[in-house]
Amino acid sequence: MRRTPGVRALVRECEVGPPDLVMPVFVREGIGQAEEVESMPGVHRHSPAGLVEECRRLAGWGIGAVALFPCCLEEKDESGSGALERDGLVPSTLRRLKRELPDLIVICDVALDPYTDHGHDGVLSEDGREVDNDATVAILAQMALVLAEAGCDWVAPSDMMDGRVGAIRQALDAEGHDRVPILSYAAKFNSAFYGPFREAVGSRRHGAAYLDKGGYQLPPSNAREALRDALLDEGEGADMLMVKPAGPYLDILCRLRESTALPLAAYQVSGEYAQIHAAAQRGWLDYDRARDESLLAIKRAGADLVLTYFARELACRGRWPVC
Ligand code: PBG
Repeated sequence: MRRTPGVRALVRECEVGPPDLVMPVFVREGIGQAEEVESMPGVHRHSPAGLVEECRRLAGWGIGAVALFPCCLEEKDESGSGALERDGLVPSTLRRLKRELPDLIVICDVALDPYTDHGHDGVLSEDGREVDNDATVAILAQMALVLAEAGCDWVAPSDMMDGRVGAIRQALDAEGHDRVPILSYAAKFNSAFYGPFREAVGSRRHGAAYLDKGGYQLPPSNAREALRDALLDEGEGADMLMVKPAGPYLDILCRLRESTALPLAAYQVSGEYAQIHAAAQRGWLDYDRARDESLLAIKRAGADLVLTYFARELACRGRWPVC
């Protein structure tokens, strides 16, 4: 049953191609050439104008959705107030993208980390020792509204506060945005694999140690807790659930697939991307095969859609389905 490529193609159980892929993209203020993120070869920070052109190319190659992240914002403060600015970098980029490319789905993170000077996803409690869950949820609901008003297609809370999906749903419905779905980062782990991303967006305080988000993101040791938490989001009205990172948490993806009928997303994060590049640069891995295998594994475990920094090159080369 596996002797020839033709036979293998007929019995292939899953495949990966642009229709299932979401490309994360980074936008920064200003004009001029995109700069490459050092720890993520092939990934760039674009100006708003450059991003529109980049998205036009992505859409032309068959990518249906992008996840938009702001980077290196200068105006940060303790409460992340920039997240609620209607003319901030993200809302203004969104309006531009939706005007030029109305069919491209734009997904926006709902979390405060790009906007807080301490880099946490929420506001801190009075003693500054932990994130204040309920105060954060109230702000996130407002943030989701700002994004929906600017044309965001799907809001994606990535903060891991309790109760935020329900609060966001209620706020959106109350203001007439009942058609905006919520892609919940439902099982998001406290992972070291976010390192390159924090470099890219500048949410790692200058020179400071990596932030510990263990007070709200899931502990890597706990599968039951992850499932319970993800299913709470479904109960609160999430339209899609996400597991993140993807590769190290295939068991969660697989078990969640059996516990919900909602579409499942998986985020192959920056560190998963960087490690394949780093090993391949040293000649320690076959780059194409390692990339394709990493993505197939995520699909096989049960993901319907995959957020991956490999989306661009797979779509652009027209080398798909990956198998
Ligand atoms: C933050 C956020 C993170 C990522 C997406 N949204 C990082 C974090 O939680 O610190 C990581 C994505 C990646 O590593 O590619 N809300």
